[in-house]
Amino acid sequence: MGILEWATSPLGQRVPIHIAWFLIWVAVIAGLVFLIVHAIYVRYFAKHKEFASEAPPAQTLDLPARIPRHSLAARMFHWIMAAAMFVLLFTAFLPRVGVQFNWVTYHWIAGTVLTISILFHIVHSIFYMDFWSIWPDRSDLEDARRRVERFFGRSTAAPRKFAKYPLENKLYHGVVMLSGLAVIATGICMMFRVRTIFFPRNPYLFSDMTWGMMYVLHGLAGVGLITLTIVHVYFAIRPEKLPITASMIVGSMSREFYLQEHDPQRWIVPGMPNQRSAADGD
Ligand code: HEM
Repeated sequence: MGILEWATSPLGQRVPIHIAWFLIWVAVIAGLVFLIVHAIYVRYFAKHKEFASEAPPAQTLDLPARIPRHSLAARMFHWIMAAAMFVLLFTAFLPRVGVQFNWVTYHWIAGTVLTISILFHIVHSIFYMDFWSIWPDRSDLEDARRRVERFFGRSTAAPRKFAKYPLENKLYHGVVMLSGLAVIATGICMMFRVRTIFFPRNPYLFSDMTWGMMYVLHGLAGVGLITLTIVHVYFAIRPEKLPITASMIVGSMSREFYLQEHDPQRWIVPGMPNQRSAADGD
């Protein structure tokens, strides 16, 4: 049983046509296994989080009671993208597991919404957000090493508190970004195979082999997004993460939560001059 389905083209060439659909179940089970293993680990094995306390005391920073975390534009992007993602996943995979309906139209419309929302996000993050906050930096890697060493009982300095995003979130963002760009790039090409309002249908745009590879990449990234979405929703509803999830609705989090998890020298709250000078070591 291979992970691809094959067919013979009119030229007699053996070409892949798409992924084998049992991979849907592999992706669902992988997501569920991850969350069960993680929940057991947190409940029975995880040690209490210890951070190095290098941050200046809260009162010297004069922080507001609510710390702004996501702008209205960022929150709207997140929820529009999330809605498009769910429509894409359900329209793509329900027909493969026996729920038949005219899915293609809903699918490319949601695909168009996802594509536009991602284009917006790219421009917004480059020009209006702290672009580098989501990419791993040297401190993240050093702290990850410290965390692993401490987990195995070695005596190493405690890791620092997080910047705006912990390393795990940054890595997750990287993987979602790659899968998202893969489904978008292949999905736009695949729109030439079906009737849409954008351009005339042209199934001869690519060779059978190229189309086959495109459908395979679209399918592989798509099933990957099933696992990634399960993991994301799991973390969003974990009790200790609820303040973060709530901040994606209301835009801010409490000062207490911010100070408990984040290093004010690594995540500067906009408009906090005291914090800026503390971070610069003035
Ligand atoms: C979460 C994201 C997505 C998932 C999980 C997903 C999944 C799928 C799957 C499994 C198929 C069936 C392919 C096959 O038969 O081998 C498909 C078809 C298709 N997808 Fe997506 N897709 C996603 C995003 C997109 C995007 C962003 C676009 C457009 C920009 C798009 C456009 C299309 C089109 C036009 C088809 C129909 C192709 C045809 O029937 O010939 N998809 N998608």
